[in-house]
Amino acid sequence: MGKDVIIACDFDSAEKTFAFLDKFTGRKPFVKIGMELYYAEGPSIVKEIKKRGHKIFLDLKLHDIPNTVKKSMAVLSRLDVDMTNLHAGGTIRMMEAAIEGLTREDGTRPMLIAVTQLTSTDQESMENDLLIKEPIDKVVMHYAHNAKVAGLDGVVCSPLEAGKVHDTCGKDFVTVTPGVRFADGDIGDQKRVMTPAEAKKIGSDYIVVGRPITAAADPVAAYERCIAEFVD
Ligand code: C5P
Repeated sequence: MGKDVIIACDFDSAEKTFAFLDKFTGRKPFVKIGMELYYAEGPSIVKEIKKRGHKIFLDLKLHDIPNTVKKSMAVLSRLDVDMTNLHAGGTIRMMEAAIEGLTREDGTRPMLIAVTQLTSTDQESMENDLLIKEPIDKVVMHYAHNAKVAGLDGVVCSPLEAGKVHDTCGKDFVTVTPGVRFADGDIGDQKRVMTPAEAKKIGSDYIVVGRPITAAADPVAAYERCIAEFVD
């Protein structure tokens, strides 16, 4: 599977998204569409971006009863996205139902990735709010293993966890890692960051990069720099 850089298109309108994507006249980047943009513009934004030749990671993090997730995944699959995701906390049965829904009549399907514990959840909130008393690293690896058992392709995780996920779930189990920053760039609100080169070294398969590209003075140059550090 090929390593790639996924740009997080965290914009609140189609207009801003297209103004940004119009700058990329050469290589068409793999883009991530999250809840903000999807809820603002609906499925048409996915179809439009796909028509322009971009691969799409639809980051909607589904979590519901298995039947609802299965039917919703069938709808997302028809949108022809390349990758989508759900919460592993929805149980193995929910993840298996998601795969069923996502699989098209010809047997193909988008890649399906699980969120383990959100990086905004720490040990304290997991213990006090969720009543999960195990160490958070163990919980993350257990959820990753559940995703593998259910037949998913990989997980979203911190670049710092990517190596351990590969050790636990195998080399082919994909790691998609946000929290990437250039060595000379702003960290912003991310706490644990890595450069694209470090993420490559540690074994991330895909890096998700938002503001270091979207807020750069020259977004295309910032994207090419990520590609040069991470892929080439
Ligand atoms: O702008 P920045 O590079 O921080 O954007 C990272 C993207 O990855 C955002 O869309 C953010 O929501 C997402 N993300 C993250 N950390 C996670 C999961 C997703 O930063 N644990």
